Amino acid sequence: MLAHLLHLNGIDSVVVENRSRDYVIDRVRAGVLEQGTVDLLHAMGVAARLRQEGLRHDGVYISFLGQRHHINFAELTGGKAITVYGQNEVVKDLIEARVATSGPLYFEAEHVSVAALDSSSPVIRFHHHDTEHELQCDFIAGCDGFHGVCRPSIPDGVLTVYERVYPFGWLGILAEAAPSCEELVYTLHERGFALFSMRSPTVTRLYLQVPPDEPIERWSDEAIWQEMLRRMTTGDGWKPNVGRIIQKGVTPMRSFVAAPMRHGRLFLAGDAAHIVPPTGAKGLNLAASDVLVLARAFKAFYERGRTAWLDEYSDVCLRRVWKAQRFSWWMTSTLHRAPDESAFDHQRQIADLDYLTSSRAAMTSLAEQYVGLPAEVSFESAGLPA
Ligand code: PHB
Repeated sequence: MLAHLLHLNGIDSVVVENRSRDYVIDRVRAGVLEQGTVDLLHAMGVAARLRQEGLRHDGVYISFLGQRHHINFAELTGGKAITVYGQNEVVKDLIEARVATSGPLYFEAEHVSVAALDSSSPVIRFHHHDTEHELQCDFIAGCDGFHGVCRPSIPDGVLTVYERVYPFGWLGILAEAAPSCEELVYTLHERGFALFSMRSPTVTRLYLQVPPDEPIERWSDEAIWQEMLRRMTTGDGWKPNVGRIIQKGVTPMRSFVAAPMRHGRLFLAGDAAHIVPPTGAKGLNLAASDVLVLARAFKAFYERGRTAWLDEYSDVCLRRVWKAQRFSWWMTSTLHRAPDESAFDHQRQIADLDYLTSSRAAMTSLAEQYVGLPAEVSFESAGLPA
């Protein structure tokens, strides 16, 4: 996304990816785009397929004590919505846009390293199909995820790390089944959290709270369906449709922030700098917001020699990151059952959800955070049409 934003501003970049093209296109991740992320993809001119295939949702359901409660985003936020469109589909569209510009894009890069970060010419080294490459850069954008090489290349003592690891994970499946509800359903059941989502009119995406290191082999398809139906079926008889499971896996959950999001001429963006638990559906959206702020800063640097926006990058991003952290932590702790919770904690969760679903003020607060808080910087400042 950053490479394409830079391209639109006439700034060259090289994209170095250690996975294969097929891997990044096929690997299913989250799927909720905030209104602002959708608007950004439109403004960048990469939303043709999103426009066709994205599923616009005007709200979500919150389910507890066997009852679904609707929260209408469009009504509470003046017409904003979310769009369900797989993160890997966004990646696929961006790869196509990159290829169409003929900008350099290396897949399956090996032994990637970064150096000379606090010089005016930082370096990226990598092997690609048996050739060694060394790039002398003006800047390096570390968009390489939580397990990438960029953040660990920053010297000890520079970053402050804030972290919370949750005592549970999500078992996620994709199933060949028509979604039985037109919107997402977040459920707190006495046996734990469950989430109903979808990818298309024929594919349902579902999640179950499980222990954090749960071996997926322990779950037969039959056991998965039994537990999904047990947690999600509501008093009015609503339940997900059952179908063939085509993908399954377990993801751990953590909240993590490394600050500042910069060291010298290395700028961290997205999961390289921060992780949110998936319950708030914010991960991809925060990454998109980071690179919009970074594109604005690079544009001002190359056009006007202005460095102030590079210097502000981390602070501007972190204000949004911390609000998304708070929201994601709140959604997670309100909707999951912790192994060490007391009976008091559980009653407090129920009261939280009862208040949420009966107060217009509380629903509005959830709605405006879920569809996404206003952008930190304008599209125009990053060289895009408004
Ligand atoms: C998904 O569809 O994968 C999804 C939806 C909402 C979430 C997380 C994941 O909060």
